[in-house]
Amino acid sequence: MQHLQNLFLENFAIPKEYTLLFEQIHLLGMQDKQEEFNTLHKQLMKQRIQAVEKALGSILQDAEIPPRLSEAMRYSLLAGGKRLRPTLCLSMAKLCSHARRDKNLWVLAMPFAIALEMIHTYSLIHDDLPAMDNDDLRRGKPTCHKAFDEATAILAGDGLLTDAFYFMTDCNLPAQNILQGIQLIAKAVGSEGMVGGQMLDMEAEQRTLNLDELCILNAKKTGALLQCACLSGASLVGATDTMKKYIKEYGTNMGIAFQIIDDVLDVIGDTALLGKNTGSDAANQKSTWVSLIGIEESRKKAVEYCNDANKALQELAQSEPLLDKGEQYFLQKTTSDMAYRVY
Ligand code: IPE
Ligand code: IPE
Ligand code: MG
Ligand code: MG
Ligand code: MG
Repeated sequence: MQHLQNLFLENFAIPKEYTLLFEQIHLLGMQDKQEEFNTLHKQLMKQRIQAVEKALGSILQDAEIPPRLSEAMRYSLLAGGKRLRPTLCLSMAKLCSHARRDKNLWVLAMPFAIALEMIHTYSLIHDDLPAMDNDDLRRGKPTCHKAFDEATAILAGDGLLTDAFYFMTDCNLPAQNILQGIQLIAKAVGSEGMVGGQMLDMEAEQRTLNLDELCILNAKKTGALLQCACLSGASLVGATDTMKKYIKEYGTNMGIAFQIIDDVLDVIGDTALLGKNTGSDAANQKSTWVSLIGIEESRKKAVEYCNDANKALQELAQSEPLLDKGEQYFLQKTTSDMAYRVY
């Protein structure tokens, strides 16, 4: 993946103009700059997603993989998606690289970023299976088991999950940092984390959860992977414990917000924009934020959790004056935009 690293450096660069616009709006209250800033943010996000897409497109074409299997893995992996986990991982690595001798060290986290998207895609393939949520549409295309068959979809998920761990070891960073990253991710997506959360989600089809139980379910099912996308990025470049504390706080809050937003969009979202069918949660009698507290309260909660996530970033910036400001602002804007998807 060495040849892709320049692409990441270019496409992840934050122009000075972006930092200036953010400060004009947030420190000087110049609201008339908002539209210009929104356009620039969208453009930068698009560039980042394109770089991640290019890296994803370059993998899993090995002749040693049975063709039907690699076709199914690539079918789901390259179907689109917001690419939030890899961009978060790289963003956090970039944010924390300021204290390093090599400020471009974060680019080397790329195999982890790719691996996170592979694990996420595996989780979606299995989540859509008839035995789980039984969904037909994902990322604007028939789900993997519809386009292929159930056995192939199960194996495509298994392949993506397992190969992801191979990619993580194939990373030109200090072995201790790599080990820490792998440990974080394994714990986050295993039985204590995402898989455990999926189990709780399945069990909750039979009964109504209370809010505390739903928070635990969310933190495992969705929050754990998002949080470790952030934390692994930071760990890979050798972030200090204090930095990791704030980043963990950010990841926890944005993870909860993310699932609240997903639950709301399952009710009010537009299939064409979401790329998945709405109404899936009600059809499966899931306990969700909407079923427990309704749309309006869920919207408010999403904003609250996103604000708390951003507060953690601001606190991090206060304790680390040399932090990459442009990157901090980019993360804050990404997080606050997330909440507005439900309005
Ligand atoms: C959907 O994740 C599944 C959840 C964890 C809620 P995303 O909304 O990130 O899906 P993609 O990657 O954009 O398709
Ligand atoms: C899926 O949650 C979480 C994981 C895949 C681990 P959902 O079931 O709510 O996700 P969508 O709505 O199908 O994308
Ligand atoms: Mg599900
Ligand atoms: Mg689902
Ligand atoms: Mg959902």
